Amino acid sequence: MVELVSNVANVDDGDVTVVLLRGVEAQEIKRIGEFCSRIDVKYLKKAIENRKYEGKSKQSLVLDDGVKKIILVGMPDEINKAEMLELGAVIASKLKKDFSATIFMPKNAADYAGDLALGMELALYSFDKYMTKKKDEDFNKLEKVCLIIEKGEVDMKKMAEAKALAIGVRYARDLGNEPANYLTPKVLADDIKRLEYLGLEVEIIPAKKLKEKGFNLLLEVGKASVNEPCVVVAKWMGDKKRKDFDLVLVGKGVTHDAGGTNIKTANNLLDMKMDMSGAGAVAAVLKVLALEKKKINVAAVLGLVENVLAGNAYKPDDVIVSGSGQTIEVINTDAEGRLVLADCLWYAGEKLQAKKIVDVATLTGVTAYVFDGEFAAVLGNDEKLNHDLIMAGKNSGEKLWELPMDETYRKMLKSNIADMKNLGGKMAGASTAAEFLNNFVKEGITWAHLDIAGCEVVHENKNLTPKGATGFGVRLLHEYIKKFI
Ligand code: BES
Ligand code: ZN
Ligand code: ZN
Repeated sequence: MVELVSNVANVDDGDVTVVLLRGVEAQEIKRIGEFCSRIDVKYLKKAIENRKYEGKSKQSLVLDDGVKKIILVGMPDEINKAEMLELGAVIASKLKKDFSATIFMPKNAADYAGDLALGMELALYSFDKYMTKKKDEDFNKLEKVCLIIEKGEVDMKKMAEAKALAIGVRYARDLGNEPANYLTPKVLADDIKRLEYLGLEVEIIPAKKLKEKGFNLLLEVGKASVNEPCVVVAKWMGDKKRKDFDLVLVGKGVTHDAGGTNIKTANNLLDMKMDMSGAGAVAAVLKVLALEKKKINVAAVLGLVENVLAGNAYKPDDVIVSGSGQTIEVINTDAEGRLVLADCLWYAGEKLQAKKIVDVATLTGVTAYVFDGEFAAVLGNDEKLNHDLIMAGKNSGEKLWELPMDETYRKMLKSNIADMKNLGGKMAGASTAAEFLNNFVKEGITWAHLDIAGCEVVHENKNLTPKGATGFGVRLLHEYIKKFI
């Protein structure tokens, strides 16, 4: 993590100077000369002319004479959150090998200093703990950034929010990137338990207690693995005067999805260590709330389990009885996420008296195909909740698109032998999955389901997300909580 300081008068002259400018007109250069005394205006003018630098949106120019390093970066034409996040990423990409930098920012962007800082943090993330051959010089070096705003102060509250969010997203990415041979359900639960140092309350329900607590379906999914399942119930009680929850989050935490008896093919097995990304995002959001000491109460129910194949694995044609009493005909053991979530949703309603639930899961392949990671799907029983989540998606840059729930899809789950099947057939896979979940949401609860399949990972380096786990959902849910709760 980068240490961020702001408006420090005597900044060390030895570090890199980053200047954000609006074009290269004479007036703009004059402004920079007045604002940033460490820059020689004549030198700057000449360098800009020689290099034909135009100062266009996010265009950068690195001036490095071996003694002093100056980086010019064009301000975006429109100053908004998304652009400032991207700008942060551009700046970070130029500073990877430097230890410290001072960024001079024009006054009209002051409100977005936090977004710039967050953009830098997200771009600088890397997961290299298993890279034994990586040399010292290959690691990101940036440790300290000083942000100076022209005739203004940095809003330290916004900066603290950016920092907490960066920590949260990085935590979710770390969990997603961790291989499943290390990150078993127990290891993941223990890791979340460690967040108690921030004031979270974390209860781990171990495998031997799951039956009595009604997690029958989760036990079925997990019974073939030597890495036993467990459930994490975590609480952030920021408003101590109340005992009820403003929101209960539910997360799919399948630490590896091999498909079980319906075993996946080679290509489909790849990335299935990240089938716990819903649970990871939820745990990370709680971490952010705790870091910010937010005055709200949020609970999380995370079903942690491995879906693998062994002699005692659950099978297609099996009928299983859920803790809610409803019976399920297993059609496909690779449709395990909805079974895990079903128990968690039921628990949230029965035991936590949830009034509002949002679940997060890498649930269906079809969502990944349809949106290719650009959007996650939102489905649910309340128009306003869906709408609020979509708005939070727009604001945070983690976008959602609504898919329908309907009686027709519900009917596709009819079984000849049990109350329902765990698969609706070939068609409308995201909607039938949500209809399945709806059976386990207690009457009267406002509920939305986020199918984030495809959003949890990127295979190309992007500005804000290097290859690997994205931590999708953390910024979205945080924005939703901030604006709508
Ligand atoms: N974990 C997968 C869904 C998934 C697929 C997430 C691709 C991320 C990327 C889920 O458990 C699953 O296997 N779903 C199958 C069910 C089907 C085979 C019955 C699917 O949707 O393809
Ligand atoms: Zn599966
Ligand atoms: Zn899965």
